[in-house]
Amino acid sequence: EFEYKTGFPALRLTNSNGSASVEILLYGAHVLSWTTNNKQILFLSDKAIFAPGKAIRGGIPIVWPQFGPGPLPQHGFARVKTWRLGKTNTNDDVSVELHLLHDEDTLKIWPHKFNLTLTIRLKEKSFYQELTVHNEDNHTFEFTSLFHTYFTVDDIKTTTISGLNNVTYTDKVDGSKTKTETNKTLEFTSETDRVYNDGGKNANPILINDCIQVIGSGTTSDIVVWNPWQEKAKGSVDIGEHNFSKFVCVEVGHVHDSVKLDKDQLWKGSHEITLLK
Ligand code: BG6
Repeated sequence: EFEYKTGFPALRLTNSNGSASVEILLYGAHVLSWTTNNKQILFLSDKAIFAPGKAIRGGIPIVWPQFGPGPLPQHGFARVKTWRLGKTNTNDDVSVELHLLHDEDTLKIWPHKFNLTLTIRLKEKSFYQELTVHNEDNHTFEFTSLFHTYFTVDDIKTTTISGLNNVTYTDKVDGSKTKTETNKTLEFTSETDRVYNDGGKNANPILINDCIQVIGSGTTSDIVVWNPWQEKAKGSVDIGEHNFSKFVCVEVGHVHDSVKLDKDQLWKGSHEITLLK
């Protein structure tokens, strides 16, 4: 454990031959960086704000228990709470567990007792994250959940995403609910904000630039694709115009409806990112 330049306690895990490493903040259980063979896979804004209560622009924020706007703060509270460090394993496959338990503040805005465990596992060319939700209350509760991954790209205008052909999606830019993806390969020419319902259940894997594969679990089959484009990036204090072309968010989760979790029950959702070449 060490103090990262952000001011938040953080840890760095490196695999045994030194070829891959991750940096994780306890704040938000936020993965800031994943490098493999000296290649940084994630995007972190040079204007990111590191302050209590603020979401960090880049890396992998954990969206829970609410995706998007709603009664809770945007994207829920898990990304702005400080998690507790659990078991770490640095032997074969490097792994770490982080925990977040309900507290006075969460109960005030979301009256349900929960216990979250985020497991992060690092292999030479792949990165795996699993969220376990335990309902510790005496009633059923509901949530949505998402790994909000920011991938670094050379240029959004030449970035492609494949594997979503024929999938139905909600277009959050124009508000239409049931479009169907007709392109084999998705390209970016303007603001893009889409929720592909069960996109991860498509026969083809999700590939970014034919080189990064993103896979969810059976419980996390929705795929959100987001880039704010130039104007919105310019208007955002922690992105900036110069950054819009440098990232794409490809987010795996369960968001098109909510997960209903009975008392004492566990829910697990995960994603795996693999560098293919
Ligand atoms: C995406 C949403 O997941 O996150 C977008 O689909 C949203 O609508 C984006 O703008 C960023 O959200 P935030 O709260 O991190 O600025």
